[in-house]
Amino acid sequence: MGHFKRSSVVLGFLGVIVLLLTRSEGRLFKVLNKDNTVCGMMDVNFTVTFTALQGSKKLKTVTYNQDFYRNYITGDCNRNMAVHFDNTGSWNLHVHFKVVPDPKYMLTRSVSFVPGLVFGKLAPSNKTENFVNADDAKIGPVDCSYKCTVDDKSYYKRENSTDSNNGKSQTTGIIYTVFLDVQYIQVQVSHVHRERFGPTVACSSALHYYP
Ligand SMILES: *[C@@H]1O[C@H](CO)[C@@H](O)[C@H](O)[C@H]1NC(C)=O
Ligand SMILES: *[C@@H]1O[C@H](CO)[C@@H](O)[C@H](O)[C@H]1NC(C)=O
Ligand SMILES: *[C@@H]1O[C@H](CO)[C@@H](O)[C@H](O)[C@H]1NC(C)=O
Repeated sequence: MGHFKRSSVVLGFLGVIVLLLTRSEGRLFKVLNKDNTVCGMMDVNFTVTFTALQGSKKLKTVTYNQDFYRNYITGDCNRNMAVHFDNTGSWNLHVHFKVVPDPKYMLTRSVSFVPGLVFGKLAPSNKTENFVNADDAKIGPVDCSYKCTVDDKSYYKRENSTDSNNGKSQTTGIIYTVFLDVQYIQVQVSHVHRERFGPTVACSSALHYYP
C-alpha cells in the first residue's frame, strides 16, 4: 500500500515536470478577453518577404519574422485573428463554418499590407493590398487547435497596382510580391481555456499557394 502511494506521488511529480516542459515551439502570441483571460493563442514561426519591382528591377525587399519586436496579435475571441508586422501589414485568419459537402470548420488565410508603409517613398500608395489564399485549411470544432509542422508557403503577386492621387486612380507600374513561409503553427482562434490549446487537428499537407 505504502509502496503504491509512493509510486503515485512519483508519477504525479513526473506529470508536473512534463507539463512544465511543454512550452511553445515558436513564438507564442496570446489574444485576451476583456477580462484579461486568454481566449486565443498562436504559436508560430514564419518569414514574410515583401518585394517591390519595377519591371524586373527589384526596388526594395522587406522581411519580417515571428521574432520582430514590434509584431503583435489582435483577435475578436470569436472568428478572427491577425498577426501584425510592425503596423505595415498583417496575416489574417478567419474561421467559418462550411455546411456543403459535409459540415466542417475552415480557416481562411490572407495577407494585407500598405505599400507606402512597407516600402516608404519607393511605393507611396496607401491603398491596402489584400491577398486571399484560394484554398482553406480544414480545422476542427471551435475548441480544437490547428497545427501544421510542415512548411506552408504562399506566394502572392500584384501587377499594375493602382494608387489614388487627388481622387484619381492611376497605375503605379510597380509590381508587389509577398512570400509567406510558415514553418510551424499551432493556432486556436477562440475558446482557449487555461492558456492551453484544445485537441489538435493536424494539417493534412502544406497548402502551397502560387497563383
Ligand atoms: C522557431 O524559430 C526559433 C528561432 O526564432 C527556433 O529556435 C525554433 O527551433 C523554431 N521552431 C520551429 C518549430 O521551427
Ligand atoms: C500615407 O500614410 C502616411 C502615414 O499615415 C502619410 O505620412 C503619407 O503622407 C501617406 N501617403 C500618401 C501618398 O497618401
Ligand atoms: C499592366 O499594364 C500594362 C500597360 O498598361 C499592360 O500591357 C499589361 O498587360 C498589364 N498587366 C496586367 C497583368 O494587367
